[in-house]
Parts: sequence; structure tokens; C-alpha cells
Amino acid sequence: MTQEHASRRRRRLTATITDLEVAVQRAFLVGVELPGIATIDAERSLDELALLTDTAGSEPIDQELVRRHAIEPATYIGSGKAEELATLTKALDIDVVIFDNQLTPAQQRNLQKLFGCDVVDREGLILDIFAQHAHTKVGALQVELAMNRYNLPRLRGKGTSLSQQGAGVLARGPGETKLETDRRRILERNSKLERELARAVQHRETQRKSRRRAEIPQVAIVGYTNAGKSTLLNALTDADVLVEDRLFATLDPTVRRLELPNQRPFLLADTVGFVRRLPHHLIEAFRSTLSEVAEADLLLHLVDGSDPDPGGQIAAVREVLMEIGAAELLELIVFNKSDLVGEQALVRLANLYPEAVFISALEHEGLELLVERIGELLERTMVTLTLEIPYARGDVVAAAHRFGEVIGEKHDDNGMILEVRVPETSRSRFAQFSR
Ligand code: GTP
Repeated sequence: MTQEHASRRRRRLTATITDLEVAVQRAFLVGVELPGIATIDAERSLDELALLTDTAGSEPIDQELVRRHAIEPATYIGSGKAEELATLTKALDIDVVIFDNQLTPAQQRNLQKLFGCDVVDREGLILDIFAQHAHTKVGALQVELAMNRYNLPRLRGKGTSLSQQGAGVLARGPGETKLETDRRRILERNSKLERELARAVQHRETQRKSRRRAEIPQVAIVGYTNAGKSTLLNALTDADVLVEDRLFATLDPTVRRLELPNQRPFLLADTVGFVRRLPHHLIEAFRSTLSEVAEADLLLHLVDGSDPDPGGQIAAVREVLMEIGAAELLELIVFNKSDLVGEQALVRLANLYPEAVFISALEHEGLELLVERIGELLERTMVTLTLEIPYARGDVVAAAHRFGEVIGEKHDDNGMILEVRVPETSRSRFAQFSR
């Protein structure tokens, strides 16, 4: 066991002990169906909220879908309904009520008073999960900044954060009397975070550019939360990326270098899990993280084949891809968890998505075929060049071998004539020698 492995294990053990000491919060979920929203969508969204709640480490005890003609400014759901829910949540000994809809700070405060417990909305919950899963420096800075911005207008009467280890300053829950000081302190902290983030992003940009310069094709795994992205990356590499049975186990892209059967290398990046209705300004906050996706040569769009609605997952992911300008990229649909899918369902999916690949990342099934398909698709991004290279330019011959595949070699009086397959992005490197 390496030292790094050992310390990671120690950290995980500590986390487990701490988790046991902290009582799991009992959560009650509320969805509101307004005119113009299909019931099925509201129900699906509420079910997803239950998964998100579990990911945040709270226990969804019960849920209710409230139908309303319009939003009530003070309590969102109307005071009658709010009183009714207050009785119910008290009887169920609920610690936190989570709304699937966006609440204003005032609504949140009013409901908190009525229910006598914490009230959070969907965005607050997602932020909380992001905070728990930010593994790298850029991720942690992005989360803290987004959390502070979210919490600033909610400062007054703010309760405790859902997260036991919330990165935001407000996780400590400041009292009302210190309001102005607290506000100023957070604004100052945000300016500092913005500067640090700009530096960290620039550093990563430099690393990304040097990877680009290496001209190795880049493949990004994208997919709905819990599709099995980290498991796949682990299965394909020795990468020790944290795998958790939770949504959002991966907040920052983790890049690994792999080889195709023809020994050509490619880079594989794991990315953040996508959800339905990812709040727009969260996309903004994580744009630099997501920008790696937009630069990929190929997207492996991983889908949980055992999900009751794989088509819905695919659509939700494509919506986010569109937002970040990655909708036009070459995409390979990969259905994962085939070990959990029955024969009939597999046939149905194969008919609907004839180009798709089926794998079980957990059981290491179908991985060879997957890598073969990656090779075939990357091949489409390659071009064939005929190069005339003087004998004195051994460096160019070496580059042709390094960046491409030499498929033909001849010699004449002036030098070597090589036929090479290189990534489109490497074309300019050889322009001077191209016939
Ligand atoms: P986020 O980063 O949260 O979006 O999740 P992810 O897509 O990286 O998923 P992750 O790899 O963490 O896997 C989620 C859960 O699915 C874990 O419990 C995995 O063990 C499980 N899982 C992944 N692949 C398979 C599979 O092929 N079969 C089965 N049965 N379970 C799988």
C-alpha cells in the first residue's frame, strides 16, 4: 500500500466514525405542481430529489406533491397547506423540509418559523452535495463561493446547514446581531475566493494546454448522476477515484492516460454528474470544470441501463451539454449496469440505440469492446498525410511516430516518404513536410 493509499484509507475511516456519531437528519420532501408542469415531470423531479437527499446524507422519510394555481408570496404553498404540513412534519419528527422548487429567502424564513425546523430548497441541497464532494482545489473554491453567494441574502435567521462539513462560512450559522459584520466578512471572503479561484483556474488552464500540446486525443465520460462514471474510470485504469453509491461522487474531472489496442494513447476524463434542472447559475459556477467536456474529441455518454427511464436521463444530460456548448461533439452512448438489466430490456435498448455499447463497469464486462469502439470513433478524427522528410530531420520522423501511426515508409534520394495517420489537430505540425 502506498503512503497516499494509506492516508486516504485513514481519512475514509475517520469519516465513517464521524458519520456514525452524527444522527442522520430526517427529511420531508415537498414538490409543487403549478399550471403548465406535467404531473409526471413533477413526480419524477420529486423522486430525484429523494435520491439527492440521500446523497446529501439525510433520510427522506416522506414526500408530498402539492398542487397550486399560483405561488403564494409568503409561504409558496399557501398558509393553509403550510399549517397542515407543519402538523405532519412535527408528528414525523422531521429535522429538515426540502422543497423541490426555488424559494425566496423570505419564504424560506417564514416556512422555517412555521415548521420549527430547517427548510432548504433544491438549489441549497445541490450546493450542499457539491460541498461534500469537492475533491480538488478549484472544486472547493467554486463551491465555497457559490455557497456564500446563495447564503448571503438568506443570512437573517439562517439555521444550520444540512452539511455537517459544509465548506461555506455560513455552515456555522451566525446570529442576527452580528448581521452586518457577518455580511461584510463574507463579501471580503468572496473577493479573496474570486482571486484565488482565478489563479487556480489559470494554473489548470496551463496544465490543460500542455495536455493539448501533447496532441493526445481526449475522451470525456459524461452522464447522469450515479450512472457509474467513476466505476468505469476505475475499471479502465488503476485510477483510485473515489467511488460512492451516491450522486455526485465526482465533482472535478480526473484525467487518466490509456492505450488503444493499437497502442495509441488517449486521455480519459471523468466529469461531474449531471442532474435534471441543474440550477442555471450553478452551471455558471462550474463552467470552468465543465469546459473540459466541451474540448473533448469524443464523449462517452454513460447511461444507467437499469434505470426505469434511460431516455429521460439521456435527454437531461444532453440539455446540460447544450448549455456548455458540447452538443455537437462526437458521442458514444454506453449503457452501463448491464448485469442488472433483463434480456428483453437489453434488446429494447439495443433497438432504440443501435450504435450503443453495453457494459457492466462493476463486473468488467464489455470493456474490451468499448475500448475498440473508442478506437474506431477516434479514428474518424484522424487524417492521412504523406510527408517528405529530409534525412537530416530525424526529429520530424520521431514526431510522426509519437503523434500518429506510420502506415507506409519509403526512401528516395532526398529523404523519407512517410504515410501517417495523425489527429486532425496535429495537421499543422507537419504542414511544412506535407505533399
Ligand atoms: P456521480 O459522480 O455521483 O455522478 O456518480 P458516478 O456516475 O461516478 O457513479 P459511480 O461510479 O460512483 O457509481 C454509482 C453506483 O453504481 C456505485 O454504487 C457503483 O458500485 C454502482 N455501479 C457502477 N457500475 C455498475 C455496474 O456495472 N453494475 C452495477 N450493478 N452497479 C454499478
